[in-house]
Amino acid sequence: MLLERLAARDTPGRVLVVDDAYGALAVSLAASSPTVALDSWTARAASTTNHERNACATPGFVDPLDLQAMPDRFDVAVLRMPRALGRLDELLGSISAAMSPGAAVYFGGMAKRMPGSMFVRLETVYGEIDVSRAWRKARVISASVTPSIHTEPRWPVWTAIELAGHDFEMAAHGGVFSGERLDPATRLLGGHVASLLERVGAGGRVMDLGCGTGVLGTVAGRLDPTADIVLVDDSVAAIRSAAATAEQSGVSAESVHAGRLDQVASASVDLVLCNPPFHDDRGQNDEIAWTMFHDARRVLRRGGLLAVVANRHLGHHARLRKVFGRADVVSNDPSFVVTVAERA
Ligand SMILES: C[S@@+](CC[C@H](N)C(=O)[O-])C[C@H]1O[C@@H](n2cnc3c(N)ncnc32)[C@H](O)[C@@H]1O
Repeated sequence: MLLERLAARDTPGRVLVVDDAYGALAVSLAASSPTVALDSWTARAASTTNHERNACATPGFVDPLDLQAMPDRFDVAVLRMPRALGRLDELLGSISAAMSPGAAVYFGGMAKRMPGSMFVRLETVYGEIDVSRAWRKARVISASVTPSIHTEPRWPVWTAIELAGHDFEMAAHGGVFSGERLDPATRLLGGHVASLLERVGAGGRVMDLGCGTGVLGTVAGRLDPTADIVLVDDSVAAIRSAAATAEQSGVSAESVHAGRLDQVASASVDLVLCNPPFHDDRGQNDEIAWTMFHDARRVLRRGGLLAVVANRHLGHHARLRKVFGRADVVSNDPSFVVTVAERA
């Protein structure tokens, strides 16, 4: 539907594609040389592969939150509607600042994932919006950019939290996991960080894998200021949030925007802390956690530890036993399990 909307335009002008999952939009629009803004590292990797397979030059990817810094203005933007209202809100600010007056913006997505609150938000920003009829359960919403567009620059949101005896401010860009509150599973794992650091020894390399807002890595850095903290996430909005959380707390940390640990040397990490994702855009997905566990095992030194918190029903403790040979459950919360696996 999005591609049909673009095809119906007389001249495409300068095209912006935002948060295209696997490159389907960007590859189809390759003849217009679109600017492609993607948050997810995995989406960037998929888009690269699909550009190569379709003999198209791979575009340089842009962070969707950096669009206002682009030198040129766009005449048309196509976006996959984000799942979280906060993500939509922050994207609207970034995109609106990057569009020329009169430019067209098209949001596409599944009707069931577009609650009324998203329409209200779009109407607040654009005034008038056009909502298409649903076709195969999908809709396109069109709007045009007026010079008077006003968005609230309220991102990242800062929340005061306490974790493992440390008070600090948590930064969250729109749509980042658990955003403006501390996730109970994260709190549970946070309570084990001091004893895990003791087991691996002071001054180690500690990775917060799937760091989100970066609270686990930050608390590790507060508990052991001599540790080297590495923040890893597939989402660049998460990496920006985590880096801000750590910096605000006086924790110096390395940030890695990646969905795999290919760039991290084998046997170079002492402790990995992980609250893995349990779903992707299409529903529950165990594969990401499996990949994280295998990658963590490779980057851990002998005797290094992977500590995972997850919903009990996901059964990650059994998966960790398969990957590491042995894994110990160290919590007895009714909803969540903390499992610690040692690299033999
Ligand atoms: C359940 S959240 C946990 C966030 C944070 N650690 C916390 O506890 O609040 C999982 C995080 O993993 C990230 N993620 C998803 N796939 C990933 C991948 N392949 N590699 C690294 N991070 C990933 C998500 O973007 C998300 O921030």
